[in-house]
Amino acid sequence: MTTASAPGKIILFGEHAVVSGTAAIGGAIDLRAAVHVTDEPGRVLITTEDLALQGFSFDMTAGHIQSARAAHATRYISAVLRELDARDMQVSIKSSLPPAAGLGSSACIVVATVAAVSRHQGHNLSKKDIAEVSYRLEKTVQNGLGSPMDTALATYGGYLQISKDIQPLDLPPLNMIVGYTGIPHDTRSEVEKVQNLRKRYPDLVDPIFQAIGAISQNAIPLIKEGNAAETGELMNINHGLLASLGVSSRELEELVYAARGAGGALGAKLTGAGGGGCMIALPGRSGPEALLVALRQARAAAFQVKVGCEGVRLEEKR
Ligand code: MEV
Repeated sequence: MTTASAPGKIILFGEHAVVSGTAAIGGAIDLRAAVHVTDEPGRVLITTEDLALQGFSFDMTAGHIQSARAAHATRYISAVLRELDARDMQVSIKSSLPPAAGLGSSACIVVATVAAVSRHQGHNLSKKDIAEVSYRLEKTVQNGLGSPMDTALATYGGYLQISKDIQPLDLPPLNMIVGYTGIPHDTRSEVEKVQNLRKRYPDLVDPIFQAIGAISQNAIPLIKEGNAAETGELMNINHGLLASLGVSSRELEELVYAARGAGGALGAKLTGAGGGGCMIALPGRSGPEALLVALRQARAAAFQVKVGCEGVRLEEKR
């Protein structure tokens, strides 16, 4: 058996503006997807205990007819297995990340699958190879859309600054609270919405993108120094700018205000594409517990994450 695991992610600052080339900061979190590969002569079988697909099984051996739903549910993993010409194996996926929540669940499944399957086949891919193959595959499944942020974070872990290129950032671990609205989001339509707004109002939207990029740049030394109060302030400004681009929602706003009010957060913002999905909050003097309670009272699924965690990890072949 060969096993690999890879982390999910949050975007701390800079989403949407990054699509047009300004800086964004992302961090890997301590929720992971694990992929186990075992020998299965004559077949290629995918099984998953993914949160949304409890006990799901899919046989992609040539000639085996599957339902469209099964093919859709396993599209990321099937893409990896086709790319790597997988044969005679069972691939089991177990993920602790909610899917379609903006926490990078598809990217970490792709990265862990590339790492586990390639090692099981006897290859020794570098992290650079894993990140490149994974980004290309995720982008193909998403019809050409997506930045390399999610797959790079799932591969390298830690923190990354993404603008025209990807650079690791040396920042200390952070404890954040994530509030999930329970509403699946659609990255593609949110990105298109913002890019259309930009086409119609370039003189308004471009300065907003510039301001968002400047927030990311300003945040780096603040996180490094452990200046939580000002990091939180920048989260609040970033959220306001994202709302001005139309990617917040009533549900996200309720969680952001619950976090800042009863939750005593130093800062709160949506994370990822918006429209649904998740928000993040930085605990204040009243601590993480008060924040979790406030978000749950506002009907979120809320949990604490550590940011800056390890990237893809391979367990040795047994
Ligand atoms: C989505 O997680 C982040 C966006 O900036 C899109 C992207 O960078 O691909 C909205």
